Amino acid sequence: MKAFSLAIPLILSFALGSLAQDQVVMSHTHDITPPEPDSSPLTHAEPTLFDLLTIEPSVSIFFSYARETKSSRLLVDQKSNITVLVPTNRAVMALARKPHQDPVPLEDGIEISEQEFDNRSKRNVERWVSLHIIPEAPIFLASHTYPTLADGRSVSFKEIEGDATAPEWTRVLLNGEVQILRMKNASNGVFYLIDGTVVDE
Ligand SMILES: *[C@@H]1O[C@H](CO)[C@@H](O)[C@H](O)[C@H]1NC(C)=O
Ligand SMILES: *[C@@H]1O[C@H](CO)[C@@H](O)[C@H](O)[C@H]1NC(C)=O
Ligand SMILES: *[C@@H]1O[C@H](CO)[C@@H](O)[C@H](O)[C@H]1NC(C)=O
Repeated sequence: MKAFSLAIPLILSFALGSLAQDQVVMSHTHDITPPEPDSSPLTHAEPTLFDLLTIEPSVSIFFSYARETKSSRLLVDQKSNITVLVPTNRAVMALARKPHQDPVPLEDGIEISEQEFDNRSKRNVERWVSLHIIPEAPIFLASHTYPTLADGRSVSFKEIEGDATAPEWTRVLLNGEVQILRMKNASNGVFYLIDGTVVDE
């Protein structure tokens, strides 16, 4: 009986600990401005990038990160004109370092406060999401290079062999290695589903 009553607080503190960790990235939802009311109802026929992300379960991880960033406004804004390279959940889960983590782990023995950890996570997520946004749309792909919203980082598209009658996006590799799986047009930009991520260099 004694052992049992001791075990409960222990289990609880584990559960709460992992909850708190999950929430680090999700704690800024209130920063997001709601969509601006649109004066021309006709443009509602086509979904926004934000709408497309909402209905695509295979990219829910990217979307939950993107919602926490300043870039989320661009996804909602009817007047934006951006290309979003959207990694699948599988591609994000395959990353050795998660998007909110520092690119290089802290050295052993260095400790940072919870607030510093929070700040770094937020900065890392902003950067990571920005790497996946090109501030133009639509764009030509093959043999083109475009700056992303992340300072100093561009992405390029290399043409590969393929069915010449198929859409161009089926015949290019992003940064020489990442395949595009699908393309969707939105009212405020273009959405490419990618089988990898844009890596910061
Ligand atoms: C975290 O960021 C906030 C707001 O930008 C800043 O006021 C605070 O000093 C930062 N804290 C640490 C520990 O870096
Ligand atoms: C969007 O960007 C493309 C490419 O830069 C440009 O050709 C087009 O006119 C822009 N459209 C709008 C609505 O700004
Ligand atoms: C998106 O729009 C472009 C040009 O307007 C068109 O060529 C392409 O087929 C469209 N793609 C899809 C998936 O609707």
